Amino acid sequence: MSIKVSYEKILDFVSKKEILQFEDKLQKAQKAINNKTGKGNDFLGWVDLPLEISPVIVKDINDTATALRMNSDCVVIIGIGGSYLGAKALIEALNHHFSSLLKTKTNPDIIFAGHQLSEDYMTDLLELLDNKDYSIVVISKSGTTTEPAVAFRILKEHIEKKYGKENAKNRIVAITDKSRGALKTTADAEGYKSYIIPDDVGGRYSVLTPVGLLPFAIAGFDISTLVEGAVEMREQNINNNSIETNIAFKYAAARNALYSNNFNVEIMVNYQPNLMFFTEWWKQLYGESEGKENKGIFPAGVSFTTDLHSMGQYIQEGLRMIFETVISVEKPKSELKVNSDSQNLDGLNFIVGKRLNEVNKMAELGTMIAHVDGGVPNIRIAIPELNEYYLGQLIFFFEYGCALSGYLLDVNPFDQPGVEAYKNNMFALLGKPGFEKQTEQINKRIGK
Ligand code: PA5
Repeated sequence: MSIKVSYEKILDFVSKKEILQFEDKLQKAQKAINNKTGKGNDFLGWVDLPLEISPVIVKDINDTATALRMNSDCVVIIGIGGSYLGAKALIEALNHHFSSLLKTKTNPDIIFAGHQLSEDYMTDLLELLDNKDYSIVVISKSGTTTEPAVAFRILKEHIEKKYGKENAKNRIVAITDKSRGALKTTADAEGYKSYIIPDDVGGRYSVLTPVGLLPFAIAGFDISTLVEGAVEMREQNINNNSIETNIAFKYAAARNALYSNNFNVEIMVNYQPNLMFFTEWWKQLYGESEGKENKGIFPAGVSFTTDLHSMGQYIQEGLRMIFETVISVEKPKSELKVNSDSQNLDGLNFIVGKRLNEVNKMAELGTMIAHVDGGVPNIRIAIPELNEYYLGQLIFFFEYGCALSGYLLDVNPFDQPGVEAYKNNMFALLGKPGFEKQTEQINKRIGK
């Protein structure tokens, strides 16, 4: 079994011909990706990653995870962007919804830090960690990103005070570049257990490296099955050059046909709250890969039915520039039926005996019909169930679909030059050495 993509519900808005005409360009893009000849081709290491994760690597990651799990109530994962979202997405997708509140815990709590600069967040975290046994996984490919670097400086001091410098070393794992960056220098100097992010894998394509795999293993999940799913999807995506059957082709063609018809916003929709962070991961992947040279579909996300009571109004009747991509999970893990109530004061006896999932599915179907009627095209991605295997498939599918889409748009889907602008201003405002000229200029602009 595999995930499925269908675009029948966009055919009121674009013709099948408009979709199929992308086949030739997609075949060229597929060749460019597979043969590493397209834009940004030195960042295509993610394509072969699933094949490179050997049983030896899996065992090493699992051993490290076990060691951290044994001595920690919680593990703090430090990172931002691609060094954060993939791990968070995977863990949230499969974790018990209330894992941190469960009385009997089999897994440590996973806490994220370094993904913002909030003083109150960090203060609360330090207060929590005062009373917990914990470990740290610090992730930064460049090893110089400000947010995780600041968080690590503060938490390193805390963990060393708590356990002593020598013992703290066994509670810190670094995931970074093989030779460059301040984190690499620190990890070597301190002798931390370290993992490498390959040179040719960019941050947002790195979830199938230790960046995503180690946190996922620490949270108690099966990384080899995740990788198996990715391997399977890789086979489908890289070898099949038919727009009718390659689901990455179908997705890239459908969304680009819509984009050509001025549907500029793609909303990723889920009906399972544990997919909220999967949407965040997808937003980064597509937003950073496509949004450049004044081009690109704007990726947004909603969780239904929750957001039908907030964003639903805009989607139904606002500006007509939106299409939706719905991730539909076919089979829930559990079974819960609605029981009869003799008084029926809430009037809900008409759904007695139905599973909650059936009610959710009818909400999904009803919403799709309403939104299509309201002028919102609908792409559907069906996943048989939420588990490691299908998550692995989904990750590779979205990565490959993103690279194909970027090439259709004729941009480099593997760089992110626009991210530097805010950093330069922040460094100038903070008076970073080397930024003296920019400091003078920006101070003038803000009247300082
Ligand atoms: O996709 C990317 O490359 C970025 O989002 C990075 O992942 C993010 O900026 C964090 O970078 P680093 O891992 O170097 O700290």
